Amino acid sequence: MNKISVIGSGTMGNGIAHVFAQYGHQVSLIDVQQAALDKALSTISKNFDRQVAKGSISEEDKSAALGRILTFTSLGDGVKDADLVIEAAIENLQVKLDLFRQLDELCPQHTILASNTSSISITKIGSVTKRPDKVIGMHFMNPVPVMKLVEVIKGYATSNETTETVMTVSSKLEKIPVEVNDYPGFVANRILMPMINEAIYTLYEGVAGIEEIDTVMKLGMAHPMGPLQLADFIGLDVCLSIMKVLHDGFGNPKYAPCPLLVNMVEAGFKGVKTGEGFYAYT
Ligand code: CAA
Repeated sequence: MNKISVIGSGTMGNGIAHVFAQYGHQVSLIDVQQAALDKALSTISKNFDRQVAKGSISEEDKSAALGRILTFTSLGDGVKDADLVIEAAIENLQVKLDLFRQLDELCPQHTILASNTSSISITKIGSVTKRPDKVIGMHFMNPVPVMKLVEVIKGYATSNETTETVMTVSSKLEKIPVEVNDYPGFVANRILMPMINEAIYTLYEGVAGIEEIDTVMKLGMAHPMGPLQLADFIGLDVCLSIMKVLHDGFGNPKYAPCPLLVNMVEAGFKGVKTGEGFYAYT
């Protein structure tokens, strides 16, 4: 498990590349545009600076880790000798199915194909490949260098051997991997998203204001962020799409997305990434 390829250089992809490079792996970071890759390298460098400032790594560690990351705009070149591929592209079923079909053709036979999906079925992704036993979910949490959890999602056809390998690799990154089965929302988002949706309903029904709701949850439950601020941080469009996956997957009205969430996404208020959600960001 030395050579790791990461597909997608956005927030999750660059965080995943950062952590693997920090722990000594050779990383191929792949995206369609070189400009996106350059931006990702600059973000990774700044995030390493936080660790240097804190004293958890040295300047030499930072330079060595950055030196282990190569960037590619060609998928074939970026994955040709990978031991493990982690897909962190956009959260769109067709895009992921198409990518995994290509990865199955382009990667060596031994390569494990993982997805960082927050809610798309690993079993469905595995079914478009000829190696569903080697397809698995590795769901990292944002910010990846800080958050300890990796939710390891075993699809219906994922082998025990693949699961054990991924659990071991995750532990070596000093993360805590937790094995879960492949059902809508897995564990993290099956529990987190209904809480966020309920916070939005609480606002929508006028029970309390934005800051009041977040303060109750921060100070009352010791959450580092209130649910509305966390929704902005995750992206309101992402929250909505995960609620739809839960609603469709279980057919239970308790997962219906709050109409206020739907309206905000339709109006383009998607949280931190668009500059405004429940809060404004400059
Ligand atoms: N890289 C490296 N270090 C980072 C970092 C990054 N990207 N982001 C923050 N840090 C470090 C900071 O340097 C700081 O280090 P020290 O404590 O040593 O100084 C530490 O993390 C805390 O950061 P800040 O002081 O800037 O701010 P904070 O105390 O508010 O913490 C936070 C920030 C860690 C993000 C905290 O607010 C938090 O835990 N928020 C909730 C995060 C969360 O719930 N994530 C899961 C989201 S759900 C998801 O990802 C999955 C999904 O499918 C939707």
